[in-house]
Amino acid sequence: MNQPSWLVDDLLRVETILLDTAGGSPHALVRDPALHLIQAGGKRLRPALVLTASRAATPGAVATDLSAAAVELIHLATLYHDDVVDETKTRRGVDTVHARWGTEVAVLVGDYLFAQGCLLGARAGGDVPGILAGALADVCEGQIVETAALHTADRPTEDYIDTVSKKTAALFGAACEMGAVTGGASDELRAALFRYGMHLGIAFQIVDDLLDFVGDPRVTGKIPGTDLAQGVYTLPVLIACERDASLAQDLTASHADLDRVLVAMRDTGALEATQAAAERMAAEALGALEALPPGEPRVTLETIVGGVLAQTPEWLTA
Ligand code: IPE
Ligand code: IPE
Ligand code: MG
Ligand code: MG
Repeated sequence: MNQPSWLVDDLLRVETILLDTAGGSPHALVRDPALHLIQAGGKRLRPALVLTASRAATPGAVATDLSAAAVELIHLATLYHDDVVDETKTRRGVDTVHARWGTEVAVLVGDYLFAQGCLLGARAGGDVPGILAGALADVCEGQIVETAALHTADRPTEDYIDTVSKKTAALFGAACEMGAVTGGASDELRAALFRYGMHLGIAFQIVDDLLDFVGDPRVTGKIPGTDLAQGVYTLPVLIACERDASLAQDLTASHADLDRVLVAMRDTGALEATQAAAERMAAEALGALEALPPGEPRVTLETIVGGVLAQTPEWLTA
């Protein structure tokens, strides 16, 4: 996505806070793994949401920059831990932290990043620490519920949506809400931005789950098929199972490999149905933006929705 120049400048300031905060330890065994994924890349989507949401009210507050860096550090911490749980070897196109430094370091440095994110949130003050802590609790709850549902092929799709609302969308909602409060937005604007963030976040995770089947690893920086291999049955799998009972049986008996699942998805139209679900969530996100005044921040938030959907191959939308 082509970012407006104000967003490029805002993100550069936040990058400095991120690098200073994550790289502040005198110990190389803390500093190097803490900086590893920041330096590897990443979209910085959650900071961009904080910064852009703030511009729907009043931009430029120090607390907005601190919140933007805080939400990225907390996101990073969840990635460190997620990669340990998922036993993933590649992230942002590089080795995961546990693959390079071992599980102990990945877990502890993940905790360190959580704590540093919370410190920045505390420095931002006001409602920010409470918003961050609430979102973090939701992320953990969502991840635990996902773990409890591993290998469950007859899981209702509503449960899936509920889980991703917590594990992913909560942080998107929090990012938008923190932008709103640090920008001094009205309660009405704050609620609209939160609603936007939640729906965007659900659409985002649905797309991420689709990309685990149809994504190009050179673009995603992640190894495809990971969710299925871990027994995480995401929306395209659940839809395929709803439409093809034999797939559900095979998955329950652990008799389905990636090729079997891909064929069932093609035959049942599950990938297209999943794309349609992401588009419905994206439309809800856009609907929430109608409460915003017209102008560049609103256009940028609309563009972000388009950018999330644009990650999937074109043939899925046809
Ligand atoms: C990855 O998030 C975790 C999910 C919620 C799917 P991103 O796709 O935003 O990861 P980075 O920050 O760009 O690496
Ligand atoms: C998102 O789920 C993980 C977090 C909320 C931390 P995924 O497991 O799909 O994320 P990726 O695909 O590993 O980035
Ligand atoms: Mg994962
Ligand atoms: Mg994923």
